Amino acid sequence: MSSGNGPGPDPTEEELAAMDRDELVKLGGKLDGVEIVDYPDPWPVKGTKAEKRAERVVTMWFLLAALAGAAFFVALIWWPWQYEPYTNADGHFWYSLYTPVLGVTLGVSVLALSVGILVYSKKFVPQELAVQQRTDNQGQGSREVDRKTIVAHLADSGERSTIARRSMIKRSAGLGAGVLGLGAVALPVASFIKNPWAEADTKYSLAHTGWQKEFPDEVVYLRRHTGDPGEISLVRPEDLEAGGMETVWPFRESERGDHTALAHALKRSDNPVMLIRLRADDGKKVIKRKGQEDFNYGDYYAYTKICSHVGCPTSLYEQQTNRILCPCHQSQFDALTYAKPIFGPATRALAQLPITVHTDGYLIARHDFIEPIGPGYWERKS
Ligand code: FES
Repeated sequence: MSSGNGPGPDPTEEELAAMDRDELVKLGGKLDGVEIVDYPDPWPVKGTKAEKRAERVVTMWFLLAALAGAAFFVALIWWPWQYEPYTNADGHFWYSLYTPVLGVTLGVSVLALSVGILVYSKKFVPQELAVQQRTDNQGQGSREVDRKTIVAHLADSGERSTIARRSMIKRSAGLGAGVLGLGAVALPVASFIKNPWAEADTKYSLAHTGWQKEFPDEVVYLRRHTGDPGEISLVRPEDLEAGGMETVWPFRESERGDHTALAHALKRSDNPVMLIRLRADDGKKVIKRKGQEDFNYGDYYAYTKICSHVGCPTSLYEQQTNRILCPCHQSQFDALTYAKPIFGPATRALAQLPITVHTDGYLIARHDFIEPIGPGYWERKS
């Protein structure tokens, strides 16, 4: 606003208090050395067909924003989002549309709201043409007179935009912004619409992974992913060379031939485990975590692939240094010291899966992880 060097002396506090908004607007311009060249009313003749048409166009955009926002909200909650295998052609088709539908509805809603605001500004807000001399105000802050005149100016702009008397536009804009806001709130909250304590001891709970046994004697094998969920390739200790690493997923005989269950086990985000075979010399240097001394099978160690920082896959294993690397933020974990973090932002060790070899010679999980995997967890103690 004013540099304080504008033409004429500043009005006194009493004079300021006595001024109405029009006078304050003029005073603001004068103090700032602003010359208003043109300040046309966009609709000098009120109530014309063109004005009403413009009002309807703006309303239409806001209603479209509301409609798309509502569609986003409905899709977010009710669209079939759970994986369906290719064998169920219909189910797979609708499932595969989940993410595109969310993207399109949210995108259309934001776009329509923006276009509505743009069209409104273009059609109804007076396009003032003014010239002002530049000033740096010599480092001084705003004075009372500056503050008052700018508030008056803003209020005047709002009134001249005629928004106050355009209830159709106001309501549709409120509806569009409200529904979009609802979707924005629902997006992060929706993932919590699940009881974390339901089925607490099963592999379906948040506290367990797919490695959790469904009954005490169940055998959960380590399997590799060949690209075909139906092709079961189990892992024997001799399959891995010393210093080698392989990613494995859980497999139970009860799921053999069940394409949906097999595909789900491979897709479930907390299932992947990094199976590492240390070189014999390195195996002698291992420091085990208290209470997990028997989680390994000889030189074979299995750690979750879910980084304890923010959950990226820790998919790199450096054989020479025995370090597990997370490419997201470069955390490094020492495979010789129970995958303890030794570099980067991660502060917790990777959870270790207890493994052994079954009577048939294949590697199996002895039980699920004994702690939640991945990043912060509200009941985590480590
Ligand atoms: S998610 Fe692994 S370092 Fe950040």
